[in-house]
Amino acid sequence: MKAIRVAAYGGPDSLSLQELDDPRPGDGEVLIDVAATSVNPIDWKIVSGAMQAFIPLTLPFTPGVDAAGTVIAVGRNVTTLVPGDEVLGFIGIVGGYATRAVVDAGRLARKPKGLGFLEAAGIPAAALTAWQALHDHGKLQAGQKVLIHAAAGGVGSVAVQLANLAGAQVIGTASAANRSYLQGLGATDVIDYTEDDFAAKVSDVDLVLDLVGSDTQVRSWSVLKRGGTLVSSVSPPDARRAHEVGADGKHFATRPDGAQLSALAMLYESGKLRVEIESTYPLARAGEAMAKSMARHVRGKVIIQTA
Ligand SMILES: NC(=O)c1ccc[n+]([C@@H]2O[C@H](COP(=O)([O-])OP(=O)(O)OC[C@H]3O[C@@H](n4cnc5c(N)ncnc54)[C@H](OP(=O)(O)O)[C@@H]3O)[C@@H](O)[C@H]2O)c1
Repeated sequence: MKAIRVAAYGGPDSLSLQELDDPRPGDGEVLIDVAATSVNPIDWKIVSGAMQAFIPLTLPFTPGVDAAGTVIAVGRNVTTLVPGDEVLGFIGIVGGYATRAVVDAGRLARKPKGLGFLEAAGIPAAALTAWQALHDHGKLQAGQKVLIHAAAGGVGSVAVQLANLAGAQVIGTASAANRSYLQGLGATDVIDYTEDDFAAKVSDVDLVLDLVGSDTQVRSWSVLKRGGTLVSSVSPPDARRAHEVGADGKHFATRPDGAQLSALAMLYESGKLRVEIESTYPLARAGEAMAKSMARHVRGKVIIQTA
């Protein structure tokens, strides 16, 4: 198999393509012939070494949390999948930038027939994060007003669609170039954060989905109605500020969940959700794919084609 390896923490230059022995699936695991993976910001945060305290890893390692491909072997006690099954999954905290990956079967969902592997690879981490933020943590209800920061990114693009499907009024922050893209996904209002202060334009929000952090999170408290919720995937909200404005603040880490991913996959299969692919790179150019994500202006997903 081929895999991108990181032997020392650093930037995209620390990624190198290497030949490795195929791994073998253990109890409850399957071996996947990976067709594609996607770049998520967690990948370059891990590669930089910034996450070492929370996610200790043994060097060298293979980055990548997403994979889409075909099962080629199953370990003991796997009853749900057989060789030949096409799957996608949030496979772990590392391991996706490779032509083969061993994955816990419970993390996987069947790939919708109508979806290619490139699109499927852009789904797992982003869609699970968006769903869990809006529904598991944000308890979004029909008719509510939701403000989604970084609405045009990997997670935001799914969140806009899911919130729209849930019957919410969706406001997104993005640069002007993404206005019509987000309106096409179901946003009723798009605020250009490079020109306008969203805090001066929005009020009485039930749920803020913070995919940016820092100052964007701090300024979000003022737009929430009393009893509202700020959910962040980036950093823990200030509990004192939450109390002051009578709101709830939550930070979460995305949970792998094959059943939840299967339900999301059906929404893609039925055309209720769609994947936006900004660009696709071959595995040998994974460093360029990572650098693209690090610039923080990806629309939808950057995909790495491994096959
Ligand atoms: N806790 C967890 O388990 C978890 C899980 C998934 C993601 N995350 C985190 O969530 C964040 C978002 O992830 P992602 O995959 O969606 O990122 P992404 O795809 O890299 O986001 C890119 C988007 O961010 C927008 N953006 C950049 N700066 C902005 C700003 N100041 N205001 C509004 N939009 C801005 C860009 O829009 P323009 O091009 O229009 O500027 C671009 O579309 C990352 O920090 C990631 O690490 C955490």
